[in-house]
Amino acid sequence: MSSHYHHLIQRYRKYLPVRQMHSVVSLGEGNTPLIKLGNIARQLNKQVDIYVKYEALNPTGSFKDRGMTVAVSKALESKSKAIVCASTGNTAASAAAYAARAGLMAFVLIPEGKIAVGKLAQAMMHGATVIQITGNFDEGMALVKEISGQANITIVNSINPYRLEGQKTAAFEIVDALGCAPDYHCLPVGNAGNISACWMGYQAYQRDGKLATLPKMIGYQAEGAAPFVLGRPISQPETVATAIRIGAPQSWDKAMAAQQESQGWFGALEDEVILAVQRLLAAQEGIFCEPASAISVAGVLRDIHRGKIPAGSTVVCTLTGHGLKDPMIAMEQCQDSVITIPAERAALIALMDEKLSQVS
Ligand code: F0G
Repeated sequence: MSSHYHHLIQRYRKYLPVRQMHSVVSLGEGNTPLIKLGNIARQLNKQVDIYVKYEALNPTGSFKDRGMTVAVSKALESKSKAIVCASTGNTAASAAAYAARAGLMAFVLIPEGKIAVGKLAQAMMHGATVIQITGNFDEGMALVKEISGQANITIVNSINPYRLEGQKTAAFEIVDALGCAPDYHCLPVGNAGNISACWMGYQAYQRDGKLATLPKMIGYQAEGAAPFVLGRPISQPETVATAIRIGAPQSWDKAMAAQQESQGWFGALEDEVILAVQRLLAAQEGIFCEPASAISVAGVLRDIHRGKIPAGSTVVCTLTGHGLKDPMIAMEQCQDSVITIPAERAALIALMDEKLSQVS
């Protein structure tokens, strides 16, 4: 293998179900940075190493590309003509891009009015048939399952096992970068595929002798969309973090097993806290993620504060999607941060002096 990075199927082919390398559909996904938090971590009253796995740097701006490269490659192998998914946005964007690359049709079902504008723009630009339903994600998911079995159409939601196979590579990359598993791996949980996939990845590495200890898997949900915290599905999930506005997660059993086997936990966070931590990451670390992603760091900061995560721990938070996906929510939070001045030297100097005097 050349040392140049191509894509995750090539790098981890030993662990993946893809055999025909010529039919791989790739956009160069994977190999995302693991970034250690600096300013935020220094302000804690305990020493904890917090890393973020910045999945925003995948080709379509979210972790979905890891699963989509495998699912779409397999769809092509099995001579599918089209792919279909229900989505809160990111799966739709990723499916649309990989379908375009593969020359397949994509049908994406999205909840009307509840998807971030960037994700919608992506699905439209990549030429998917974008189908808005007057219902939420769970209803779209049920609809997609009803049409499963249609000839030549492959479902690319995470109920497609190849999606989880691809997504487990995030765990491989984390272990490859750290040299061991973290003590805690924290993720936002919506449909619950990703926490299940990462747990599969750690287990696969352990079986292969690459890992001595496994991490505790921690899943965070928004307060208004927290079926795992409540212990049952809910019918009207609501949260500002539209990516995880899900009440009936499909990978329920797998995610429960990941939490229980790893001795982790689920927790819920309020929308205001999610947005505050989204701003904190952007303003203090230079890391822009979408609200659903910020929940993993929000949960960790709270659980460090509460003593559930002790000093000396190594924590990885998956930042699942890019902040640019949802520009509206970002703009709403920073409405007063643009200053208008006349195009004059004196005005500029005066403004800069005023700002600088506030910090010194
Ligand atoms: N974070 C983001 C940004 C997501 O888009 C999703 C899921 C999750 C977290 C939760 O991951 O579902 O594996 O538990 N988005 C799906 C979609 C549902 O349609 O894009 P999960």
